Amino acid sequence: MKIVKTFTAVRSEVAGASAALVPTMGFLHEGHVSLLELAGGLGGPVVMSLFVNPLQFDRPVDLERYPRDLDRDAGIAAAAGVDLLFAPTVEEMYPSPPRTRVRVDSVSEGMEGEHRPGHFEGVATVVAKLFAGIQPEAAVFGRKDAQQLAVVRRLTADLSFPVEIIGAPTVRAPDGLAVSSRNVFIAEDDRAAALGLSSGLFAAAEAVAAGERNGARLESLVRDRLGDVRVEYVSLADAFEAEPVETLEREAFLAVAARVGDVRLIDNIVVWPDGSSDTGVRLERPSILRRM
Ligand code: PAF
Repeated sequence: MKIVKTFTAVRSEVAGASAALVPTMGFLHEGHVSLLELAGGLGGPVVMSLFVNPLQFDRPVDLERYPRDLDRDAGIAAAAGVDLLFAPTVEEMYPSPPRTRVRVDSVSEGMEGEHRPGHFEGVATVVAKLFAGIQPEAAVFGRKDAQQLAVVRRLTADLSFPVEIIGAPTVRAPDGLAVSSRNVFIAEDDRAAALGLSSGLFAAAEAVAAGERNGARLESLVRDRLGDVRVEYVSLADAFEAEPVETLEREAFLAVAARVGDVRLIDNIVVWPDGSSDTGVRLERPSILRRM
């Protein structure tokens, strides 16, 4: 695996090849590894970007405490089959303060957009820069961030990027908790409360399989399992528009966001009107992420 730090270098490495890009902010875990493996199966070279994007942090403290360890991440990336690791500096990514931002109307506005103002503008801007600068043929994103996936799909279509966007299932710890870099901040005593998110979603998936199509009732099934947490939203949303839907009539995701102690967690399942769902895949052993 080669590590490069400039757009010029990454482009000259993958010129003419059908590269698959996996954008990350580092601090890799099994969720990232599953994206990298999926990208590897596409046949072309796998490029992983590693950039902690200041534009998408709504709270400066989160940007500051975001863990950075290039050697650790490079080891995991190489083992997962990455051919090229693109780790630009802030100066390479934003040579001057960017006056051009990408804002995806409507898709970005509810749920995460409402609770994290400016977040999706930062994500959309950096993803557009990565697509323009690297020119991959495909890019893989986790369904764990279902609204982000909808935002990326929309910006790709609206800006005519010739990039195939692929969504990959959420990876879960053996107890069901969706793997996230934030899990390292969950206190031991709060783990049971954190599991309320996934267990509510699993109950809703069973209800969908049994014929439930009403959005409000599915949302209540999730709320009923949430114990000692501060709920920000529970919402059944259209998979592509990320707008609330009252009845499950096309692909949708049922999403929840809540604060467990001082840790903000999000989770979702994807559901279809034929009663099927994607609740993610479970690891057989505990995640490589350790509590901090
Ligand atoms: O999902 C993430 O890790 C980030 O939002 C992304 C897509 C790498 C953009 O910085």
